[in-house]
Amino acid sequence: MKGSFSSIPTLRHLDFRDRKVFLRIDVNSPIDPETMSIVDDRRIRIHSSTVKQLIDAGAAIVVASHQGRPGEAGFTTMEKHVELLSKYAGIEVKFIDDVCGPTAREAIKFLKPGEALMLNNLRLASEEVIEATPEKQASTYLVQRLAPLLEAYVNDAFATAHRSQPSIVGFPLVLPSVAGPVMERELLQLDKLMSQGQAPRVFVFGGARVYDLVKVIENLVSKGMADRILTTGLLANLVLLAKGVNIGLKNLRYLEERGVLTLVPRIRHLLMRGAPIETPIDFKVLSNGEVGEEALGRISGRIMDVGSSTIDMYREFMKEAKAIVMKGPAGVIEDSRFRDGTIKLINEALSTRASTIIAGGEAFFDLSETCVS
Ligand code: 3PG
Repeated sequence: MKGSFSSIPTLRHLDFRDRKVFLRIDVNSPIDPETMSIVDDRRIRIHSSTVKQLIDAGAAIVVASHQGRPGEAGFTTMEKHVELLSKYAGIEVKFIDDVCGPTAREAIKFLKPGEALMLNNLRLASEEVIEATPEKQASTYLVQRLAPLLEAYVNDAFATAHRSQPSIVGFPLVLPSVAGPVMERELLQLDKLMSQGQAPRVFVFGGARVYDLVKVIENLVSKGMADRILTTGLLANLVLLAKGVNIGLKNLRYLEERGVLTLVPRIRHLLMRGAPIETPIDFKVLSNGEVGEEALGRISGRIMDVGSSTIDMYREFMKEAKAIVMKGPAGVIEDSRFRDGTIKLINEALSTRASTIIAGGEAFFDLSETCVS
């Protein structure tokens, strides 16, 4: 790897022959709440080539991932993931219905080079949902019980790399560790994007994961990495509140119900430090069952998407960019009436000359069918 991530070792830096390897992947996938089947298996397909690569290198692999969050829809076992992983990797990956108990440890003990097993959902182990320092995570039962049976650790879970959880930050303190190829590819892209010549950088942030987003914005602002941050979704409503703008009672109540109002002082602090955060000027709203557009200052309906003037304004900001990073939908894309903002903003980004990264956890519709490239 070149650039600021060049010091991170990759698969090329370790001999895997006859080594027992813990491979942390991220196959967290959208799950159909009725059938509990996997709606989009792209992450599984991508990681299957890492599994294949390690098997070809002579390793015995213990694959692990999380799926969903305890207590939320989508939190389920890895049985279906394992079936698909076996199919795409073209080898048998054995499902182990355990994470770090005796069944898992016995299976790992007898695993031979050229064989692979996958543990059950890591978040079935309560330690995996707690964020703490790497030192603390290295002393968890999860790491302490599995690490003595293993000889190397590969982190290929780029989409979970921001979590300070045992399977991400604990193992690297006790095992020789490298980044997997999926991680390496993503880091290379980020490196390219963050390199000096890529300014102005425009970030387009939306969606409902507002705690993560505010953390990301705080980080970008403290490093001076963002020239403009265009907000949509729930995040935009919080920023408007922090600016003292009236977003209507219904929307205020909704933010209250979701328990996210505690973020307002943090956002206000960012604004006071001069963070370049832009907010929508109009919205698509739902009012008495009718869909309409309302301008800022006259919002009475439930905000469901950004409005057309906001898209026009954000288009102009994106035209100035050399690099664009997008994360999270602009509206309630689960409902097809409120997908326009997201689709149009992606298309606007892709039609600029900027290098563009589109990030996100779950896709409710296939972007390749609706977006230009
Ligand atoms: C994702 O899909 O964003 C990652 O798998 C991380 O999931 P998390 O936000 O539940 O940690």
